[in-house]
Amino acid sequence: MNAQPTTPLGTLYGVGVGPGAPDLLTLRALKVIQEADVLAIPRPSDFGTSVAWSIVKPHVDSQPIADTGAKQERLFLTFPMSKDPDILVPAWHHAFQEIQSRLRQGLSVAFLTQGDPFVYSTFIYLQEKAREMEPLLNIEIIPGVTSLSAVPAAAGIPLADGQERIAVIPATYGLEELRSTLRAFDAVLIMKVSSCIRGVIKVLEEEGLLGCSTYVERATSKDQKVVHDLTQIKGDRCVYFSMVFVHKKLRSGVLSGKTSHGKGLQAQVHQEVVQ
Ligand SMILES: C[S@@+](CC[C@H](N)C(=O)[O-])C[C@H]1O[C@@H](n2cnc3c(N)ncnc32)[C@H](O)[C@@H]1O
Repeated sequence: MNAQPTTPLGTLYGVGVGPGAPDLLTLRALKVIQEADVLAIPRPSDFGTSVAWSIVKPHVDSQPIADTGAKQERLFLTFPMSKDPDILVPAWHHAFQEIQSRLRQGLSVAFLTQGDPFVYSTFIYLQEKAREMEPLLNIEIIPGVTSLSAVPAAAGIPLADGQERIAVIPATYGLEELRSTLRAFDAVLIMKVSSCIRGVIKVLEEEGLLGCSTYVERATSKDQKVVHDLTQIKGDRCVYFSMVFVHKKLRSGVLSGKTSHGKGLQAQVHQEVVQ
């Protein structure tokens, strides 16, 4: 059983730090990061580098906390890249214990998350653990620019317009659903393609969608790479921070006055413009 803290608990912040470029950090994120007593920084292994930290570091390195002049703690936490609960659950548990001990001293903790903390993020599990172990804890989410918007921007292709429907699918959980998703949606963001890029390309080819697919890695960072011709991608693996963006462009936007079903949008367009 957990001992009850004597001082009020500090606040836990889930801070989205954006997709890669340090200047895509929001003003709110920057303020929280600069003022927090502790920065909790996730990394994939004990010696691995943290992408979230590389984004934040230029803004805070060796900077004392505003007002107090105290030095901010940088708490590196290891979250192994695994789908095995026997590996992950103890890692989350350990990470939260480390954070909890700071919160119980009344310290504020900003947990850095690449992109947005509520989009396929370790913070989601951490928050679950926190709610279970500290039901009275105040948790604040600072949304970040997510890769879901960074990738279309890097590709130079709008994500969706008018009647278009968007789907997001993580490729690592099987390619069976990818085919039906590709058929049902106008724009599909295929995340986590690194280890299954060959399978993804094969499905796109079979569906006749290679021509409207773009591969983007490390969007917005200085190492960003955009490939519009997927046949140029060689090898069985690509980098972890990569995505394939499929946009069929079948449906027209509201201003063109057409739909894939042919007619019927003119009256609706008129109404939307008049309102
Ligand atoms: C664990 S998820 C993290 C998503 C993140 N929380 C967000 O809001 O974008 C990791 C996956 O997001 C995608 N991703 C994240 N950042 C990216 C970037 N800068 N460029 C391309 N893909 C990215 C990749 O598909 C990667 O495998």
